[in-house]
Amino acid sequence: MDINALPLFEPLEKATEIDHGKQGIIYRLDNHLCVKIRNRINEKEYEKVQKEAGIADDLYRGGVSVSRSLGLFRFSVSSFETLPSPLNAETFLLGFVQEFIYGSHYCDLPKRLHQEAEKKHAQESDKAEALGFRGFDNFYSTRNVLYQVENDSLERAVLIDFGLWVRRT
Ligand SMILES: Nc1ncnc2c1ncn2[C@@H]1O[C@H](COP(=O)(O)OP(=O)(O)OP(=O)(O)O)[C@@H](O)[C@H]1O
Ligand SMILES: [Mg+2]
Repeated sequence: MDINALPLFEPLEKATEIDHGKQGIIYRLDNHLCVKIRNRINEKEYEKVQKEAGIADDLYRGGVSVSRSLGLFRFSVSSFETLPSPLNAETFLLGFVQEFIYGSHYCDLPKRLHQEAEKKHAQESDKAEALGFRGFDNFYSTRNVLYQVENDSLERAVLIDFGLWVRRT
């Protein structure tokens, strides 16, 4: 793949880091959007992120509560406040732009909301399963769901990070 073939995303302000996972760093772009920048750039990474964006799209269209995908873009390294030094050596970075979800991880919820959180998460997982997708349950997957709380009640579970999801064939 040629990263130069991707549309260039130029944030109005420098993107600030909000969190990171094993595969990438998440930067805030504006009030509505964030981007996952992969730790490495090569053909395999490109394929992985394309697959992830495709799964996010299919889930969204299938009515599953997910962070909506805006697709793949290239970013200039100068768009970021801080970057790990190996990435600084690049000219452009590969970014998966998505809706920024205002929400909390399971571990940051008050205990009294845990049961409802599990129920809402299970409902979304079941919908995804019915569409032919499967996520993975492991230690990290607890950070791959964001929970929105309103007026002291659990409103919505939003699935994020489809990097390890598989499509049933
Ligand atoms: N769309 C989003 N809106 C808000 N926060 C997000 C969003 N996507 C990711 N994050 C934050 O960044 C963290 C890491 O994101 P993500 O799980 O996509 O990265 P990863 O490198 O693929 O992770 P993993 O280590 O699970 O493989 C999340 O746990 C969450 O806190
Ligand atoms: Mg994750």
